[in-house]
Amino acid sequence: MFVVVGVTGGIAAYKTVGLVRLLVKAGHDVHVVPTDDALRFVGLPTWEAISRNPLTTSVHEDVARVRHVSLGQSADLVIVAPATANTLASMTAGLASDLLGTTLLATTAPVVVAPAMHTEMWRHPATVHNMDVLRARGVHVVGPADGALTGGDSGPGRMSEPEEIVAAALALVERPRDLSGLSVLVSAGGTREPIDPVRFLGNRSSGRQGVAIARAAADRGATVTLVAAHLDADVRPDPRVEVISVGTADELGRAMDATSPDADVVIMAAAVADYSVAAVSEHKLRKQDTPGGLTLELIENRDIVAGLVAARRPGQTIVAFAAETVDSQDELLERARAKAARKGVDLLAANAVGWTSGFETADNALKIIGRDGEVVGEAAGSKAETADALLDAVLAARWR
Ligand code: CTP
Repeated sequence: MFVVVGVTGGIAAYKTVGLVRLLVKAGHDVHVVPTDDALRFVGLPTWEAISRNPLTTSVHEDVARVRHVSLGQSADLVIVAPATANTLASMTAGLASDLLGTTLLATTAPVVVAPAMHTEMWRHPATVHNMDVLRARGVHVVGPADGALTGGDSGPGRMSEPEEIVAAALALVERPRDLSGLSVLVSAGGTREPIDPVRFLGNRSSGRQGVAIARAAADRGATVTLVAAHLDADVRPDPRVEVISVGTADELGRAMDATSPDADVVIMAAAVADYSVAAVSEHKLRKQDTPGGLTLELIENRDIVAGLVAARRPGQTIVAFAAETVDSQDELLERARAKAARKGVDLLAANAVGWTSGFETADNALKIIGRDGEVVGEAAGSKAETADALLDAVLAARWR
């Protein structure tokens, strides 16, 4: 699971090191977002070492990847621990003054806060009001605990223990382990067909949907293998997933052929090149060799999923994707039905794509077609949500 841990400026930040460690040990992909004040208590190298992920603390870093919103968009869960009175007030006001603020505004994931402050501050009408507003917005509050506070006084205000915060947070998002015992093979990303040593024919697939399916399957208890072709740099597979990296359609096909016999479920989410270059040049093509234009001869690649269907063993469920440029949902369904029948798959997940939709985005909208062409599922939302809807349809198809 992709977990964002916001750390704000309180002495309890040292306890959050243990919290991050617990999440990492449980196999989660943890991204720490400390505020500047938090870094006065625990430094950046500690967070990077414990979370095993590079850290960005400013909205002005990593701008090309729209870091100020991408963390929030990718998150399955956000925990803010410790949450100071100041941070809780900022959250109530919806302030976007730092990376944690923008992340919290950009996320639709459950948000858990673990307040930590002196009793007087916790009981102040301003804080009481802020907590009421946050709770009403669906923010989950763990603690604070009653006990000794820094400075020798005692009362409610201590940050709850990391184990308690982690247990409460994970309980909000953990899904039923309904895929446990199943082996799921997913392909993701886009293949590249070389033209010469420096050029290729490619496509716009980022790998986001396939990686989200692999993560959701792992969350639901499956053993997952991901055959990954050129994932975007910010699309990182869940650490619980075994990754086989490939480049071309041919490599992807061979990896799928080698791993599919052991899979109970095969999901072909990769965008596979339909053609490869007939004669790949050993040297960089030069304009002077082909003055006035260049014609490339392309040969058709084999249909990988059709091969998997032909070799399917009893009990194996095979899912294909279809990204179509269409003018209407009816046309999408019509094309998807034809493609599902042609490929002989158990399920086909269809989505409409265009110049500005379907690719490089956090959201997706899928229509899932069953063997007889009926719509067995529909989902619109984050790629994590559509991944879960697809896995629900896979389970239903296996029961039929
Ligand atoms: N696919 C595959 N092997 C290929 C091409 C596609 O296994 N050589 C898989 C994709 O991973 C996807 C499904 O087939 O799951 C549909 O891909 P798509 O490109 O839409 O299908 P095509 O058969 O190539 O149809 P079209 O002519 O519409 O491109």
